[in-house]
Amino acid sequence: MAGMIPRQFIDDLLARADIVELIDSRVPLKKAGKNYQACCPFHTEKSPSFSVSQDKQFYHCFGCGEHGNAISFLMEFDRLEFPDAVEELAAHYNMDVPREQTNRSPAQQKQAQQAYLQKQDDYELMLQISRFYQQQLKVAVDKDNAIAYLKGRGLSGEIVKRFGIGYISDTWEGMMKVFGGNGETNQQLVDLGMAIQGDKNKPYDRFRGRIQFPIRDKRGRVVGFGGRVLSDGTPKYLNSPETRIYHKGQELYGLYEAKQANKQLTRLVVVEGYMDVVALAQHGVDYAVAALGTATTPEQLQTLFRTVKEVICCYDGDRAGRDAAWRAMDNALPLIQDGYSLKFVFLPDGEDPDSLIREQGQAAFEAMLNTATPLSQFLFDHLLSQIDMSSPEGKGAAIGAFQPYLAKLPDSNLKDALVTKLANQFGASNELQLKKLQASFTHVTSPKAAIKRPKITPVRLAIALLLEHPHIVEILPDPSILKDLNLPGIPLLNSLLSLCKQNPKVSGAQLIEHFRGQEAGKQLTKLMCLEHHVQAENAEDTFLDIIENFLNKFLENRSNELLEKQRSVGLTKAEMGELHGLLSEQK
Ligand code: UTP
Ligand code: MN
Repeated sequence: MAGMIPRQFIDDLLARADIVELIDSRVPLKKAGKNYQACCPFHTEKSPSFSVSQDKQFYHCFGCGEHGNAISFLMEFDRLEFPDAVEELAAHYNMDVPREQTNRSPAQQKQAQQAYLQKQDDYELMLQISRFYQQQLKVAVDKDNAIAYLKGRGLSGEIVKRFGIGYISDTWEGMMKVFGGNGETNQQLVDLGMAIQGDKNKPYDRFRGRIQFPIRDKRGRVVGFGGRVLSDGTPKYLNSPETRIYHKGQELYGLYEAKQANKQLTRLVVVEGYMDVVALAQHGVDYAVAALGTATTPEQLQTLFRTVKEVICCYDGDRAGRDAAWRAMDNALPLIQDGYSLKFVFLPDGEDPDSLIREQGQAAFEAMLNTATPLSQFLFDHLLSQIDMSSPEGKGAAIGAFQPYLAKLPDSNLKDALVTKLANQFGASNELQLKKLQASFTHVTSPKAAIKRPKITPVRLAIALLLEHPHIVEILPDPSILKDLNLPGIPLLNSLLSLCKQNPKVSGAQLIEHFRGQEAGKQLTKLMCLEHHVQAENAEDTFLDIIENFLNKFLENRSNELLEKQRSVGLTKAEMGELHGLLSEQK
């Protein structure tokens, strides 16, 4: 069911979830005092400034300023939309996500509902089609050809099954006959890239006479296909176009299967083709992925380095392969922190991973992986190959050539090593050039890195304390005590007080969730991380002091106002009564 997720459910989910466990399963955390720490997964750094608080159920990076609760973490780290992050978190705790009607306009609501239902339906349809293709390997009239082809490529039934590989005979509507129907379904099949509209009204199969490789997303959902001809027709491979559920630059063919096959992945090999991934798995290298077409994108590299610390790109030794490697390296540079590595293997002419592993076997292939060229050497050899380092002009050019790449690298041992290596090429004599070199050493920091910490004002401190210790509200006789106070931040404090009063067991992370997408939410997340040094045992007193000061200030302002009015135009009877009351309350 689509529709809004009830607020109460999100509260319950956050109460159930443990952010430390959640983050630790993706980014190993170390205990540091009351909190947990790691190097920040959202920016590159050498020493850990990413902190996770079990009490607050909140994470915060002092380096880049990223912060949030368990849901935000999944949104950021797993790149999920809000509802998907909630689904993911709920699935972990075996909770079903209920949906409710919303107060959005009926039109908006319908649209959101439809988009959600549409996608669920898309995934289901793609899964059914994928099963149909698999089944065709057993029942198609020309199934023997397909089976012979797969056998000829050295694939076992087990591997064919693991990758969900299927087949479709060469007819115009092998798939459409089964899945097509009314105009709506036909349109869906066209939208998903499975059918082609053509001139006439009747769409026909995109994939015909091909071995079908399903492309699965991170969660194992079939989002597209690659289809290979059995003979030497063209194109050799036909791929799904971009659709509402398939974004090429974000998916990696084989990643889901690699994760399924390995509880603990330590490295991933990036290869060019579907067949390379499958053939490697067939021969025991079950940790290869393919980038699905063009160059390895920054998103794909990010996914790779979020999954493992060692990535080995395995490309052709020819020009195209080296260009692909260079582009991958360029995209990966900002991600290479200490402990992470990118390496390259260039294959002998005319070979690809598939042919190599079939000829030489797993051990030889892995031996090659183990002697892969490290990024530093690749970068160095490539840049210096075009420069004559014996001339002063050449040395000058070298700095210019290295500068953009060094600037992209985060501060790390790798960077230090590169600079030292480059300096060695110069001889230490030329001071000017070494100075330039030093300048290129500086990492270009992201604007996010320069976060401003909020100044501690009484309102901010009160809010921060309340977020940390929502139960404080219980010591207030009346949570609407500040309702007449006209100061910046007080309305927000008032909303928090009333939320806490409704549910004194609420956590700060849950409170903030109420304000997701609002300006107030942003302020609250900042305040959640306010470094105020008020110990837990002093929180109540400090909070009460602040409230009392607010009230005194209010009383003072109001009595001054009334006194002023009395002097000028005089007071009504009610105002006079109020003034007397106020003056007697003030000590
Ligand atoms: P290759 O031409 O190297 O093919 O393309 P391959 O993977 O070795 O295929 P086999 O071994 O002949 O079966 C590498 C990758 O480039 C994309 C595919 O992703 C393919 O796996 N490609 C290639 C296409 O998308 N379309 C094509 O026509 C060719
Ligand atoms: Mn091949």
